[in-house]
Amino acid sequence: MYKSLEWTGKSLKIIDQTLLPSQTVFHNLYTVEAVFDAIRKLQVRGAPAIGVAAAFGLYLGLLPKRFSNKTAFLNGAKKLADYLASARPTAVNLKWALSEVIDSISQPDASARELLQLVLKTALRIQMDDEARCEAIGLNGAPLIEDGMTILTHCNTGALATAGIGTAFGVLYTAHLQGKKINVLVDETRPLLQGARLTMWEFRQVGIPATLITDNMAAYAMQRKKVDLVIVGADRIARNGDVANKIGTYSLAVSCHYHRIPFYVAAPLSTFDLSISAGKEIPIEERSGREVTYIWEQLPITVENATAWNPAFDVTPAALIHGIITEKKILKPPFEKVIEKLKFNGLIQKNYEELIV
Ligand code: MRU
Repeated sequence: MYKSLEWTGKSLKIIDQTLLPSQTVFHNLYTVEAVFDAIRKLQVRGAPAIGVAAAFGLYLGLLPKRFSNKTAFLNGAKKLADYLASARPTAVNLKWALSEVIDSISQPDASARELLQLVLKTALRIQMDDEARCEAIGLNGAPLIEDGMTILTHCNTGALATAGIGTAFGVLYTAHLQGKKINVLVDETRPLLQGARLTMWEFRQVGIPATLITDNMAAYAMQRKKVDLVIVGADRIARNGDVANKIGTYSLAVSCHYHRIPFYVAAPLSTFDLSISAGKEIPIEERSGREVTYIWEQLPITVENATAWNPAFDVTPAALIHGIITEKKILKPPFEKVIEKLKFNGLIQKNYEELIV
């Protein structure tokens, strides 16, 4: 399978997601600034993928610097981590991955040189971890998919958005590999068209039949009984199970509730933010109004100088969610209790391998 990002030994190689599907262009990023820009411009995007990219970005930022001792190294690393975390505010995986790296260098009594190697090792570990987490999410979620089902999905949650086979996409891909015949309805995902540009491209790569709809067709498709199940990804999940995901997810959940269609979220435990109790505390990224007033920043679609509001994410209340498919298991409501138990067991913070043992 194609990879959204790859460590070459010297640079972070990414596929430029702003150019897909018409052009497949790779960029080699050699500096922390280049990684920051790529995340901000959505050349690399999707909650788990930006976490992995930021971890390598931290290494690239530390590499040219000279630190006299461990404290200076740690302070420099923390400063760079804060800078990278500010690239995008909603996906908690970004902060999570950076704090995993900082944690890994906070204890050992080592030289600045050895700590630098540890940063790279942790970035590689986070990348491999995410690959394994996606695999397990796929296997845990696939039993929800029955032969002949039509599943609706939103935004992009595949290999482009993660270091592995994806989250919601991974569930559908796993079911497909198990021989289930499925059809997928893909929301185009206005305004940046991640569904139309990226998810359609990914389904084409793996040979899963997919039909593109505009976001405002979803409720009608449900009313016409064309949807059996909805699965989406997540950018941040609060302690009570409220889920922030791409704008348009909430309206899908409301429509599912009305039409009695199961609504599932697929996400690794690294997307849970235990520091916040409910979705209203999740910072929602607001992007330039130009993304709404122009198609792809090129074709104007409204009056000149129109005012536009562009929240990039919304929050779906836990009460509308049937289950959250994680690498550990499918969490069922009441989420607060299950999440509390996961926190109690210390599972969310651990490496994937420790988590599975
Ligand atoms: O703004 P984006 O394209 O980074 O938003 C991505 C999403 O909302 C995805 O659904 C989410 O990150 C899950 S990715 C496995």
